Amino acid sequence: MNILVTGGAGYIGSHTIISLIDNGFSVIVIDDFCSGHIEAINAVSKYENNKIKVYNGDFSDVDLLEGIIKKYKINGVIHFAAHSLVGESMDDPLKYYKNNVAKTILLLEFLKKSGINYFVFSSSAAVYGIPDKTPIDEMSPLNPINVYGSTKLVVENMLGSTDRAYGFKYISLRYFNAAGAHKTGFIGEDHNPETHLIPKVLKSVAIGESKAVVFGNDYPTGDGTAIRDYIHVDDLSYAHVLSLKYLIENEKSKSAVFNLGCEKGYSVLNILRKIEEITGKKLKIEFAGRREGDPAILVASYKKIKEELGFEFKYNIDDIISSAWNWHSNHLNGYIKV
Ligand code: UFG
Repeated sequence: MNILVTGGAGYIGSHTIISLIDNGFSVIVIDDFCSGHIEAINAVSKYENNKIKVYNGDFSDVDLLEGIIKKYKINGVIHFAAHSLVGESMDDPLKYYKNNVAKTILLLEFLKKSGINYFVFSSSAAVYGIPDKTPIDEMSPLNPINVYGSTKLVVENMLGSTDRAYGFKYISLRYFNAAGAHKTGFIGEDHNPETHLIPKVLKSVAIGESKAVVFGNDYPTGDGTAIRDYIHVDDLSYAHVLSLKYLIENEKSKSAVFNLGCEKGYSVLNILRKIEEITGKKLKIEFAGRREGDPAILVASYKKIKEELGFEFKYNIDDIISSAWNWHSNHLNGYIKV
């Protein structure tokens, strides 16, 4: 079966391609490389014996999409391509609505016209905003507090409507904090700028600075720092494959929305201590004010995906940090060789 992956050169996209191929799917990637890395695709291609077809372009370009479906029968789509910086989304909302929402409408129109009916969507815990209880289940109120989260929610609502109207089957996966790197160590996380806690601090350790800044130590949590639910990128990737299989292989499959977190919370200081333990380096820790828009605690209930798709986690927080350390300590400049 052929799966079209938009944004396949990105962090989660590139890990998911490996999972797809390892589970017997063929993969066609569209990526405009605005934030994805051709080196990630090359590395995955090498590992998977050149089984990936790559198109450099825009996922909403109908001519490009027509060309692809003339060549390959597409059985399903995983849609990763999106802008995903929370701060930038507040400064330039139209950029986010255009790319994440308007272009996704064009993609969905094309899929509907072409009879491609199975869709897995890369959503986010950002759709919940500041939750009123923890762990957060999928019925919790949806009140995004940033534009990035709003764009993800608009697409989720759109998917709900297309299912009701045209029977379009989708699964929306609400990621909590994706982290870690592939076990082989040849693909990993490389954002520019890097804002996420684990890769930011590990990069600093790798270049010999070993600095960490904690945003906020006056949260209502045990140690005063914010609590997050970290999920290994390989577990996250496998959840996409499981979702597609469920949609394609069950005649009676129903569209669904699932959280992807591990139901385990770690504070910023817990993570910094784990980083010290795993890298063997003492961190120079500074405390700064809270980062705007950061909820105190984001921990997922993953009961629904466990019960409905039989999803189980393979990796824990130590695996997450050690695989990320393996990647960063061997790729000081990410995909750009030094
Ligand atoms: N943090 C620090 N220092 C840093 C970087 C982060 O203290 O140098 C803190 C943050 O303030 C936050 C925690 O570490 O409390 C985790 O921050 P990340 O940036 O790693 O991740 P977020 O929780 O902000 O982001 C995640 C997803 C986003 C999603 C967001 C929703 O990665 O896609 O949750 O709140 F939008």
